[in-house]
Amino acid sequence: MRDKLLPFAPPVLGEEEIAEVAAALRSGWITTGPRTHLFEQNFAEFTGAAAALAVNSGTAALHLALVSLGVGKGGVVIAPAMNFCSGVQAIEQTGARAVLVDVDRETLNIDPAEVDRAARSLRSGERLAAIMPVHIYGHPCDRASLIAIARQHGCALIEDAAHALPASYEGTMIGAAEETGIPILTAFSFYATKNLTTGEGGMLTGPPDLIQEARVRSLHGIDEDPLSRDSRSAPWFYEVTRPGFKYNMADIQAAIGLAQLAKLPGFAARHAEIAARYNEAFAAFEEFRIPACRSGIVHSWHIYALRLNIDPPGFTRGEFIAELRRRNIAASVHFIPVHMHPWWKETHGSEPDDFPVAHREFRRLVSLPIYPAMSDRDVEDVIEAVTAIVHENRNAAATA
Ligand SMILES: Cc1ncc(COP(=O)(O)O)c(C=O)c1O
Repeated sequence: MRDKLLPFAPPVLGEEEIAEVAAALRSGWITTGPRTHLFEQNFAEFTGAAAALAVNSGTAALHLALVSLGVGKGGVVIAPAMNFCSGVQAIEQTGARAVLVDVDRETLNIDPAEVDRAARSLRSGERLAAIMPVHIYGHPCDRASLIAIARQHGCALIEDAAHALPASYEGTMIGAAEETGIPILTAFSFYATKNLTTGEGGMLTGPPDLIQEARVRSLHGIDEDPLSRDSRSAPWFYEVTRPGFKYNMADIQAAIGLAQLAKLPGFAARHAEIAARYNEAFAAFEEFRIPACRSGIVHSWHIYALRLNIDPPGFTRGEFIAELRRRNIAASVHFIPVHMHPWWKETHGSEPDDFPVAHREFRRLVSLPIYPAMSDRDVEDVIEAVTAIVHENRNAAATA
Protein backbone atom coordinates (compact mmCIF):
# COMPACT_ATOMS: atom_id res chain seq x y z
CA MET A 1 0.00 0.00 0.00
CA ARG A 2 1.25 3.55 -0.69
CA ASP A 3 2.55 5.46 2.29
CA LYS A 4 1.87 8.87 0.73
CA LEU A 5 -1.40 10.21 -0.63
CA LEU A 6 -1.67 10.27 -4.42
CA PRO A 7 -3.50 13.57 -5.00
CA PHE A 8 -6.48 13.66 -7.34
CA ALA A 9 -5.55 16.41 -9.80
CA PRO A 10 -2.57 18.60 -8.87
CA PRO A 11 -1.34 21.14 -11.41
CA VAL A 12 1.66 19.95 -13.44
CA LEU A 13 4.04 22.92 -13.37
CA GLY A 14 7.78 23.13 -13.99
CA GLU A 15 10.67 25.51 -14.37
CA GLU A 16 9.29 26.68 -17.73
CA GLU A 17 6.15 28.12 -16.11
CA ILE A 18 8.22 29.70 -13.33
CA ALA A 19 10.61 31.28 -15.87
CA GLU A 20 7.69 32.68 -17.96
CA VAL A 21 6.01 34.18 -14.90
CA ALA A 22 9.31 35.66 -13.70
CA ALA A 23 9.83 37.19 -17.16
CA ALA A 24 6.33 38.69 -17.04
CA LEU A 25 7.00 40.17 -13.60
CA ARG A 26 10.36 41.55 -14.68
CA SER A 27 8.82 43.10 -17.77
CA GLY A 28 6.71 45.37 -15.59
CA TRP A 29 3.57 44.48 -17.56
CA ILE A 30 1.45 42.18 -15.40
CA THR A 31 -2.13 42.66 -16.57
CA THR A 32 -3.57 42.04 -20.08
CA GLY A 33 -0.81 42.73 -22.58
CA PRO A 34 1.68 41.10 -24.91
CA ARG A 35 1.73 37.69 -23.21
CA THR A 36 -2.05 37.44 -23.19
CA HIS A 37 -2.19 38.30 -26.88
CA LEU A 38 0.53 35.81 -27.73
CA PHE A 39 -1.28 33.14 -25.70
CA GLU A 40 -4.48 33.88 -27.68
CA GLN A 41 -2.59 33.59 -30.98
CA ASN A 42 -0.83 30.37 -30.01
CA PHE A 43 -4.06 28.88 -28.69
CA ALA A 44 -5.94 29.77 -31.88
CA GLU A 45 -3.17 28.19 -33.91
CA PHE A 46 -3.17 25.05 -31.76
CA THR A 47 -6.94 24.52 -31.98
CA GLY A 48 -7.46 25.90 -35.49
CA ALA A 49 -9.77 28.63 -34.18
CA ALA A 50 -10.57 31.68 -36.31
CA ALA A 51 -10.19 33.91 -33.23
CA ALA A 52 -9.58 33.49 -29.50
CA LEU A 53 -10.17 35.62 -26.42
CA ALA A 54 -8.36 34.87 -23.15
CA VAL A 55 -10.42 35.51 -20.02
CA ASN A 56 -10.17 34.94 -16.28
CA SER A 57 -12.29 31.74 -16.08
CA GLY A 58 -14.14 29.16 -18.11
CA THR A 59 -17.34 30.49 -16.56
CA ALA A 60 -16.52 33.97 -17.88
CA ALA A 61 -15.99 32.45 -21.36
CA LEU A 62 -19.42 30.79 -21.22
CA HIS A 63 -21.09 33.97 -19.95
CA LEU A 64 -19.43 36.09 -22.66
CA ALA A 65 -20.50 33.60 -25.33
CA LEU A 66 -24.14 34.05 -24.29
CA VAL A 67 -23.89 37.83 -24.01
CA SER A 68 -22.10 38.20 -27.35
CA LEU A 69 -24.86 36.22 -29.04
CA GLY A 70 -27.45 38.54 -27.48
CA VAL A 71 -29.02 35.78 -25.37
CA GLY A 72 -31.36 37.20 -22.74
CA LYS A 73 -34.96 37.45 -21.60
CA GLY A 74 -37.32 35.36 -23.72
CA GLY A 75 -34.47 33.14 -24.85
CA VAL A 76 -34.05 29.48 -23.96
CA VAL A 77 -30.74 27.64 -23.73
CA ILE A 78 -30.67 23.85 -23.50
CA ALA A 79 -27.94 22.22 -21.40
CA PRO A 80 -27.30 18.75 -19.97
CA ALA A 81 -28.32 17.89 -16.40
CA MET A 82 -25.05 15.97 -15.94
CA ASN A 83 -23.01 19.11 -15.76
CA PHE A 84 -21.02 21.47 -13.59
CA CYS A 85 -23.21 24.35 -12.39
CA SER A 86 -21.36 27.18 -14.10
CA GLY A 87 -22.79 27.16 -17.64
CA VAL A 88 -26.34 26.82 -16.33
CA GLN A 89 -25.83 29.66 -13.88
CA ALA A 90 -24.41 31.83 -16.68
CA ILE A 91 -27.53 31.16 -18.76
CA GLU A 92 -29.76 32.27 -15.90
CA GLN A 93 -27.61 35.37 -15.27
CA THR A 94 -28.50 36.61 -18.76
CA GLY A 95 -32.24 36.43 -17.99
CA ALA A 96 -32.72 33.53 -20.40
CA ARG A 97 -34.34 30.27 -19.28
CA ALA A 98 -32.07 27.27 -18.84
CA VAL A 99 -33.72 24.01 -19.86
CA LEU A 100 -31.99 20.89 -18.63
CA VAL A 101 -32.15 17.62 -20.54
CA ASP A 102 -30.98 14.10 -19.83
CA VAL A 103 -27.80 12.52 -21.12
CA ASP A 104 -26.73 9.57 -23.20
CA ARG A 105 -26.33 6.45 -21.06
CA GLU A 106 -23.07 5.44 -22.68
CA THR A 107 -21.06 8.67 -22.90
CA LEU A 108 -23.00 10.79 -20.35
CA ASN A 109 -22.96 13.56 -22.95
CA ILE A 110 -26.12 15.50 -23.78
CA ASP A 111 -28.68 13.27 -25.55
CA PRO A 112 -29.61 14.86 -28.93
CA ALA A 113 -33.04 13.15 -28.90
CA GLU A 114 -33.77 14.92 -25.60
CA VAL A 115 -32.49 18.22 -27.02
CA ASP A 116 -34.82 17.80 -30.01
CA ARG A 117 -37.76 17.10 -27.70
CA ALA A 118 -36.99 20.12 -25.50
CA ALA A 119 -36.54 22.38 -28.55
CA ARG A 120 -40.09 21.49 -29.64
CA SER A 121 -41.59 22.15 -26.21
CA LEU A 122 -40.86 25.83 -25.60
CA ARG A 123 -43.37 28.07 -23.86
CA SER A 124 -45.26 30.56 -25.98
CA GLY A 125 -43.25 33.67 -26.72
CA GLU A 126 -39.94 31.91 -26.12
CA ARG A 127 -37.17 31.47 -28.67
CA LEU A 128 -34.48 28.79 -28.70
CA ALA A 129 -31.32 30.89 -28.47
CA ALA A 130 -28.64 28.24 -28.05
CA ILE A 131 -27.70 24.69 -27.18
CA MET A 132 -24.87 24.45 -24.63
CA PRO A 133 -23.46 20.91 -24.57
CA VAL A 134 -20.52 19.82 -22.44
CA HIS A 135 -17.86 17.51 -23.85
CA ILE A 136 -17.96 15.62 -20.63
CA TYR A 137 -14.68 14.22 -19.28
CA GLY A 138 -13.14 15.22 -22.63
CA HIS A 139 -15.26 12.90 -24.79
CA PRO A 140 -16.72 15.11 -27.55
CA CYS A 141 -20.50 15.07 -27.66
CA ASP A 142 -22.55 14.15 -30.75
CA ARG A 143 -21.83 17.45 -32.51
CA ALA A 144 -23.29 16.42 -35.87
CA SER A 145 -26.76 15.83 -34.38
CA LEU A 146 -26.63 19.00 -32.29
CA ILE A 147 -25.53 21.15 -35.23
CA ALA A 148 -28.42 19.69 -37.28
CA ILE A 149 -30.92 20.60 -34.52
CA ALA A 150 -29.39 24.06 -34.11
CA ARG A 151 -29.66 24.67 -37.87
CA GLN A 152 -33.28 23.58 -37.85
CA HIS A 153 -34.11 26.07 -35.08
CA GLY A 154 -31.74 28.81 -36.26
CA CYS A 155 -29.94 28.90 -32.94
CA ALA A 156 -26.30 28.94 -31.83
CA LEU A 157 -24.09 26.24 -30.37
CA ILE A 158 -22.01 27.10 -27.30
CA GLU A 159 -19.66 24.25 -26.57
CA ASP A 160 -18.51 23.86 -22.99
CA ALA A 161 -15.04 22.48 -23.68
CA ALA A 162 -13.76 22.88 -20.11
CA HIS A 163 -12.66 19.23 -20.26
CA ALA A 164 -11.93 18.92 -23.98
CA LEU A 165 -8.41 20.18 -24.53
CA PRO A 166 -7.16 18.75 -26.76
CA ALA A 167 -9.98 16.70 -28.26
CA SER A 168 -11.47 16.23 -31.70
CA TYR A 169 -14.66 15.08 -33.37
CA GLU A 170 -14.64 13.49 -36.83
CA GLY A 171 -11.23 15.03 -37.51
CA THR A 172 -12.21 18.53 -36.33
CA MET A 173 -10.44 19.84 -33.27
CA ILE A 174 -12.80 21.08 -30.56
CA GLY A 175 -12.63 24.88 -30.83
CA ALA A 176 -11.63 24.93 -34.52
CA ALA A 177 -13.29 27.18 -37.10
CA GLU A 178 -15.92 25.36 -39.14
CA GLU A 179 -18.51 26.21 -41.80
CA THR A 180 -21.84 25.00 -40.40
CA GLY A 181 -24.28 27.83 -41.10
CA ILE A 182 -24.78 28.52 -37.37
CA PRO A 183 -22.68 30.51 -34.89
CA ILE A 184 -20.45 28.23 -32.80
CA LEU A 185 -18.54 29.48 -29.78
CA THR A 186 -16.33 27.23 -27.67
CA ALA A 187 -15.37 27.87 -24.04
CA PHE A 188 -12.30 26.34 -22.40
CA SER A 189 -11.31 26.41 -18.72
CA PHE A 190 -7.80 26.72 -17.32
CA TYR A 191 -8.78 26.09 -13.71
CA ALA A 192 -6.10 24.55 -11.48
CA THR A 193 -7.16 20.95 -12.17
CA LYS A 194 -7.56 21.26 -15.95
CA ASN A 195 -5.37 19.69 -18.67
CA LEU A 196 -3.88 23.14 -19.22
CA THR A 197 -3.92 25.49 -16.26
CA THR A 198 -3.25 29.16 -15.63
CA GLY A 199 -4.38 28.92 -12.00
CA GLU A 200 -7.71 30.44 -12.98
CA GLY A 201 -8.49 31.29 -16.58
CA GLY A 202 -10.37 30.46 -19.73
CA MET A 203 -10.49 30.96 -23.48
CA LEU A 204 -13.35 31.60 -25.87
CA THR A 205 -12.91 30.67 -29.53
CA GLY A 206 -15.23 31.40 -32.43
CA PRO A 207 -15.94 33.66 -35.41
CA PRO A 208 -13.92 36.93 -35.33
CA ASP A 209 -16.98 39.22 -35.11
CA LEU A 210 -18.39 37.41 -32.08
CA ILE A 211 -14.98 37.18 -30.42
CA GLN A 212 -14.52 40.92 -30.96
CA GLU A 213 -17.88 41.56 -29.33
CA ALA A 214 -16.86 39.28 -26.43
CA ARG A 215 -13.54 41.14 -26.17
CA VAL A 216 -15.30 44.49 -25.73
CA ARG A 217 -17.73 43.00 -23.20
CA SER A 218 -14.86 41.34 -21.31
CA LEU A 219 -13.48 44.75 -20.31
CA HIS A 220 -16.38 46.94 -19.19
CA GLY A 221 -17.65 47.44 -22.75
CA ILE A 222 -14.67 49.64 -23.58
CA ASP A 223 -14.26 49.76 -27.33
CA GLU A 224 -10.57 49.66 -28.04
CA ASP A 225 -10.93 50.32 -31.74
CA PRO A 226 -8.34 53.10 -32.23
CA LEU A 227 -10.62 54.73 -34.77
CA SER A 228 -13.37 55.12 -32.17
CA ARG A 229 -11.33 57.53 -30.07
CA ASP A 230 -8.68 60.08 -30.57
CA SER A 231 -5.94 58.05 -28.89
CA ARG A 232 -3.09 59.95 -30.48
CA SER A 233 -3.96 63.36 -29.17
CA ALA A 234 -5.55 62.13 -25.92
CA PRO A 235 -4.16 58.78 -24.75
CA TRP A 236 -6.20 59.03 -21.54
CA PHE A 237 -9.45 58.91 -23.51
CA TYR A 238 -11.66 55.84 -23.71
CA GLU A 239 -15.33 55.20 -24.31
CA VAL A 240 -17.65 52.67 -22.71
CA THR A 241 -19.89 51.64 -25.57
CA ARG A 242 -22.04 48.98 -23.89
CA PRO A 243 -22.48 47.16 -20.58
CA GLY A 244 -19.59 44.83 -19.84
CA PHE A 245 -17.71 42.83 -17.25
CA LYS A 246 -14.22 42.53 -15.78
CA TYR A 247 -13.24 39.20 -17.32
CA ASN A 248 -9.84 39.90 -18.91
CA MET A 249 -6.87 37.59 -18.40
CA ALA A 250 -3.67 38.99 -16.83
CA ASP A 251 -0.23 38.52 -18.41
CA ILE A 252 0.92 36.67 -15.26
CA GLN A 253 -1.70 34.01 -16.02
CA ALA A 254 -0.95 34.03 -19.74
CA ALA A 255 2.73 33.42 -18.94
CA ILE A 256 1.77 30.13 -17.26
CA GLY A 257 -0.53 29.34 -20.18
CA LEU A 258 2.20 29.86 -22.77
CA ALA A 259 4.48 27.37 -21.03
CA GLN A 260 1.61 24.91 -20.51
CA LEU A 261 0.47 25.12 -24.13
CA ALA A 262 3.94 24.14 -25.34
CA LYS A 263 3.70 21.02 -23.16
CA LEU A 264 0.11 20.13 -24.06
CA PRO A 265 0.81 17.51 -26.76
CA GLY A 266 3.07 15.63 -24.33
CA PHE A 267 0.48 15.97 -21.55
CA ALA A 268 -2.24 14.64 -23.85
CA ALA A 269 -0.19 11.59 -24.82
CA ARG A 270 0.34 10.74 -21.15
CA HIS A 271 -3.38 11.18 -20.34
CA ALA A 272 -4.21 8.73 -23.16
CA GLU A 273 -1.55 6.27 -21.99
CA ILE A 274 -2.89 6.20 -18.42
CA ALA A 275 -6.49 5.85 -19.64
CA ALA A 276 -5.47 2.90 -21.84
CA ARG A 277 -3.74 1.22 -18.90
CA TYR A 278 -6.79 1.73 -16.66
CA ASN A 279 -9.10 0.41 -19.37
CA GLU A 280 -6.96 -2.66 -19.82
CA ALA A 281 -6.90 -3.30 -16.07
CA PHE A 282 -10.60 -2.69 -15.35
CA ALA A 283 -12.40 -3.96 -18.48
CA ALA A 284 -12.62 -7.54 -17.24
CA PHE A 285 -14.22 -6.69 -13.88
CA GLU A 286 -17.96 -7.24 -13.75
CA GLU A 287 -17.97 -4.68 -10.94
CA PHE A 288 -17.09 -1.84 -13.33
CA ARG A 289 -18.07 -0.14 -16.51
CA ILE A 290 -15.09 1.54 -18.13
CA PRO A 291 -15.57 4.96 -19.78
CA ALA A 292 -16.98 5.12 -23.29
CA CYS A 293 -14.73 6.11 -26.17
CA ARG A 294 -16.62 6.17 -29.47
CA SER A 295 -14.98 5.82 -32.86
CA GLY A 296 -14.32 9.03 -34.77
CA ILE A 297 -13.34 11.03 -31.70
CA VAL A 298 -10.14 11.88 -29.89
CA HIS A 299 -10.72 11.93 -26.14
CA SER A 300 -8.73 14.36 -23.99
CA TRP A 301 -9.05 12.01 -20.98
CA HIS A 302 -9.33 14.98 -18.63
CA ILE A 303 -11.34 12.82 -16.24
CA TYR A 304 -11.32 9.04 -15.99
CA ALA A 305 -14.82 8.24 -14.74
CA LEU A 306 -15.26 4.62 -13.79
CA ARG A 307 -18.79 3.44 -13.11
CA LEU A 308 -19.58 0.92 -10.38
CA ASN A 309 -22.13 -1.75 -11.05
CA ILE A 310 -23.54 -1.00 -7.64
CA ASP A 311 -25.99 -3.86 -7.33
CA PRO A 312 -23.74 -6.90 -7.66
CA PRO A 313 -20.69 -5.81 -5.66
CA GLY A 314 -22.56 -4.70 -2.56
CA PHE A 315 -20.24 -1.82 -1.75
CA THR A 316 -21.51 1.68 -2.12
CA ARG A 317 -19.76 4.40 -4.08
CA GLY A 318 -19.04 6.24 -0.82
CA GLU A 319 -17.45 3.14 0.71
CA PHE A 320 -15.41 2.58 -2.45
CA ILE A 321 -14.00 6.13 -2.36
CA ALA A 322 -13.33 5.85 1.40
CA GLU A 323 -11.47 2.55 0.83
CA LEU A 324 -9.36 4.18 -1.91
CA ARG A 325 -8.54 7.00 0.46
CA ARG A 326 -7.55 4.51 3.18
CA ARG A 327 -5.09 3.17 0.61
CA ASN A 328 -3.79 6.71 -0.02
CA ILE A 329 -5.51 7.22 -3.37
CA ALA A 330 -7.62 10.37 -3.74
CA ALA A 331 -10.75 10.06 -5.92
CA SER A 332 -13.67 12.30 -6.78
CA VAL A 333 -17.10 12.39 -8.48
CA HIS A 334 -18.05 14.27 -11.66
CA PHE A 335 -20.72 15.47 -11.32
CA ILE A 336 -23.56 15.87 -8.88
CA PRO A 337 -26.17 16.63 -11.58
CA VAL A 338 -27.32 20.25 -11.65
CA HIS A 339 -30.96 19.41 -10.86
CA MET A 340 -29.93 17.71 -7.60
CA HIS A 341 -28.42 20.84 -6.05
CA PRO A 342 -30.53 22.86 -3.57
CA TRP A 343 -30.20 25.99 -5.74
CA TRP A 344 -31.89 24.32 -8.73
CA LYS A 345 -34.35 22.26 -6.66
CA GLU A 346 -35.55 25.36 -4.82
CA THR A 347 -35.91 27.51 -7.92
CA HIS A 348 -37.23 24.86 -10.33
CA GLY A 349 -38.87 22.28 -8.04
CA SER A 350 -37.08 19.31 -9.59
CA GLU A 351 -36.96 15.68 -8.45
CA PRO A 352 -33.88 13.44 -8.88
CA ASP A 353 -35.70 11.24 -11.38
CA ASP A 354 -36.64 14.14 -13.65
CA PHE A 355 -33.43 13.15 -15.46
CA PRO A 356 -33.22 9.43 -14.74
CA VAL A 357 -30.02 8.66 -16.62
CA ALA A 358 -28.09 11.51 -14.99
CA HIS A 359 -29.47 10.56 -11.57
CA ARG A 360 -28.79 6.84 -11.84
CA GLU A 361 -25.34 7.15 -13.39
CA PHE A 362 -24.27 9.84 -10.90
CA ARG A 363 -24.68 7.32 -8.08
CA ARG A 364 -22.22 4.95 -9.79
CA LEU A 365 -19.48 7.43 -10.73
CA VAL A 366 -15.95 7.46 -9.35
CA SER A 367 -13.23 9.61 -10.95
CA LEU A 368 -9.72 8.19 -10.58
CA PRO A 369 -6.52 10.27 -10.65
CA ILE A 370 -5.24 10.89 -14.19
CA TYR A 371 -2.56 13.50 -14.89
CA PRO A 372 0.76 13.61 -16.71
CA ALA A 373 2.90 13.81 -13.58
CA MET A 374 1.71 10.35 -12.48
CA SER A 375 4.51 7.82 -12.71
CA ASP A 376 3.93 4.28 -13.95
CA ARG A 377 4.23 3.24 -10.29
CA ASP A 378 1.43 5.69 -9.33
CA VAL A 379 -0.81 4.24 -12.04
CA GLU A 380 -0.13 0.70 -10.86
CA ASP A 381 -0.82 1.78 -7.26
CA VAL A 382 -4.28 2.95 -8.31
CA ILE A 383 -4.93 -0.29 -10.17
CA GLU A 384 -3.71 -2.38 -7.24
CA ALA A 385 -5.85 -0.44 -4.77
CA VAL A 386 -8.99 -0.78 -6.93
CA THR A 387 -8.31 -4.49 -7.50
CA ALA A 388 -7.71 -5.14 -3.79
CA ILE A 389 -11.00 -3.47 -2.86
CA VAL A 390 -12.89 -5.61 -5.35
CA HIS A 391 -11.27 -8.82 -4.16
CA GLU A 392 -11.87 -8.02 -0.50
CA ASN A 393 -15.47 -7.30 -1.31
CA ARG A 394 -15.84 -10.53 -3.24
CA ASN A 395 -14.36 -12.49 -0.33
CA ALA A 396 -16.66 -10.74 2.13
CA ALA A 397 -19.67 -11.54 -0.07
CA ALA A 398 -18.60 -15.22 -0.35
CA THR A 399 -18.29 -15.65 3.42
CA ALA A 400 -21.45 -13.71 4.27
C1 LIG B 1 -17.81 21.24 -17.41
C2 LIG B 1 -17.29 22.52 -16.82
N1 LIG B 1 -17.74 23.69 -17.31
C3 LIG B 1 -17.31 24.85 -16.83
C4 LIG B 1 -16.40 24.92 -15.80
C5 LIG B 1 -16.01 26.26 -15.26
O1 LIG B 1 -14.70 26.58 -15.47
P1 LIG B 1 -13.99 27.66 -14.50
O2 LIG B 1 -13.78 26.99 -13.18
O3 LIG B 1 -12.71 27.95 -15.20
O4 LIG B 1 -14.88 28.84 -14.42
C6 LIG B 1 -15.91 23.73 -15.27
C7 LIG B 1 -14.96 23.73 -14.20
O5 LIG B 1 -14.30 23.77 -13.49
C8 LIG B 1 -16.37 22.49 -15.78
O6 LIG B 1 -15.92 21.33 -15.28
